Amino acid sequence: MAELQVKELVPVFTKEQLQERVQALGQEISRDYKDKDLCCVCILKGAIPFFADLIRAIDHREMVIDTIRASSYGNSDQSSGEVKFIKDLELDVKGKDVLLIEDVVDTGLTMKEIVKHVYELGANSVRIAVCIDKRERRQVEVDIAYRAFDLSEGFIVGYGLDLGEHYRQLDGIYEVILAKD
Ligand code: PRP
Repeated sequence: MAELQVKELVPVFTKEQLQERVQALGQEISRDYKDKDLCCVCILKGAIPFFADLIRAIDHREMVIDTIRASSYGNSDQSSGEVKFIKDLELDVKGKDVLLIEDVVDTGLTMKEIVKHVYELGANSVRIAVCIDKRERRQVEVDIAYRAFDLSEGFIVGYGLDLGEHYRQLDGIYEVILAKD
């Protein structure tokens, strides 16, 4: 694939907007999981910044955390729907109330498979917290319990989201404008 020339990064959600939503979600989750056996799962790698901020916004003394990494086959425009687990959970989630924390749900194919997998591991409940709920290309129904923002379209980077592995470290979310050649 030819290297993409980035012309401009246009701010979509600022650091302040993201942090405000993270705090609000943290409070909501704290209330909902007050008496539950909470296990927060970071879906690598894109969710790392959102996960790190969100778990610290949740008030839950007994919380445990884990990570999982899934990869969907296909190219960036077309997912085949086949999901492979590159790194599985390390904790035993049997009987636990699992909160999957993800940067973006797009087609929904990855998330659908992760939810199924975690239930198969014996979780008592599985819910989803997502930073950006992007419905433009949704192929399967995904029940998202907690979302920071909805976005209808645009190629976005930052706050974990990448373009060829770059820009994940940015503390805001930006739309990529490519240079026309
Ligand atoms: C991205 C994102 C989700 C998935 C969403 O992951 O983090 O896991 O794609 O796409 P979908 O809803 O169309 O399935 P990616 O495979 O790019 O890995 P990354 O998190 O390491 O960037």
